[in-house]
Amino acid sequence: MRVFKGDVTSLPPDKSISHRAALIGALSEGITEITNFSGGYDNQSTLSVLKDAGITLMQEETAGPSGRTVRRVVIESGGLWSFRASSVPLMCNNSGSTMRMFAGILAAQPFSSELIGDASLMKRPMKRVADPLRLMGADVELSVSGTAPIRINGTRELKPIEYRLPVPSAQVKSLVAFAALHADGESRIIEPLRSRDHTEVMLGLETIERNGERVIVVPGRKSIPAKPFYIPADPSAACFIVALGLLAVSSEIMIRDVCLNPTRAAFLDILSEAGAGLSIENRRVIGGEVIGDILVRNNTGLEPLLISDPGLVACVIDEIPMLAVLSAFATGRFELHNAAELRTKESDRIDALAVNLERLGFDCEQYPDGFIVKSRVRTPSGTVVIESFDDHRIAMSFAIAGKATGSVLDITDIDVVGVSFPNFFELLESLEV
Ligand code: S3P
Repeated sequence: MRVFKGDVTSLPPDKSISHRAALIGALSEGITEITNFSGGYDNQSTLSVLKDAGITLMQEETAGPSGRTVRRVVIESGGLWSFRASSVPLMCNNSGSTMRMFAGILAAQPFSSELIGDASLMKRPMKRVADPLRLMGADVELSVSGTAPIRINGTRELKPIEYRLPVPSAQVKSLVAFAALHADGESRIIEPLRSRDHTEVMLGLETIERNGERVIVVPGRKSIPAKPFYIPADPSAACFIVALGLLAVSSEIMIRDVCLNPTRAAFLDILSEAGAGLSIENRRVIGGEVIGDILVRNNTGLEPLLISDPGLVACVIDEIPMLAVLSAFATGRFELHNAAELRTKESDRIDALAVNLERLGFDCEQYPDGFIVKSRVRTPSGTVVIESFDDHRIAMSFAIAGKATGSVLDITDIDVVGVSFPNFFELLESLEV
């Protein structure tokens, strides 16, 4: 029987907030200091793309509290139009956030740019990027299948826009906001379903509730004074450690300084309602974000998870793989609806979850916007090969189940965990009693 105990202070800094801190730093006038920037490959891709686009920045590792290494990034910029044409295509690797959000900035720069990525990113939908930017007056070209390479002929003359988001995507909301910061007048972004709101919080944008929708007001051509950012721990990374604590008998784990923004931490509400042994301590606000410590204690009373409300799906979109695997292993059941977006992530996550859970003996059925795990019909003996589909969250979700239950799993391309959680295996080792 495996038991995990400990006090986690080394969770990766939040990936979404790290991307935004770097991009907003590059858009601000002056020197932006970012404390606790993420070392994950995705966030490093944002920094390298910024450098290729002419932004001056430096990154260093400093000794933080309890001997932990803290990454500090300093960006120096002259503001909205400080970017330069790159002599090479801008390589975003696996990072959809880098590609999409940076496209919004490049649309406003008076030169041509090309954004490319790895094999997974080159398959992901980019029409959602091109559509609003074209409406604002930028010339954006995609492949015939609506994917990258994204070729942008930017313009200093972007028009303001009133744009209703066709998908609940914080990446699309952010790229429109970043483009709109350069437009000649005030823009409005209408959000029918709420998605993560870090961009609005960090830029201090006005938001209005109107007929159950959110309207985000973006002033055009207003200079942004540089300010410091602190990056809290990533709730999407915390979700893996929470699941470990819930699956492994007698475990008790404290996870410190986690971002508990309600648009990110809804997985904790879902789990608490299903009977999980969770509590939040030391709740406080830093830089407009709610932060706290999560205490997770194993208990055996977890009920099967059913996720179907579209508003809730948008707020747990990155946690669904772990929640599905946790629910399957803890209860034999899981059900998901209204989550077609999950098929457009780093992999088709609905298929990736169902295929691998079937290999582990679960009876699954897929439908276009979700899937169901009906029961566990057999427990395979020996090593089971799990296909990560080169997707960090798929790899980590199954690694947690294997670690907690003692199942022997051979997960393909396991190094992909470094996209968001470079110290994942090191941390698991340190927690095992
Ligand atoms: C992100 C938004 C989400 C999420 C991704 C990070 C962000 O994507 O899945 O991991 O930082 O804005 P969508 O905006 O495509 O839903």
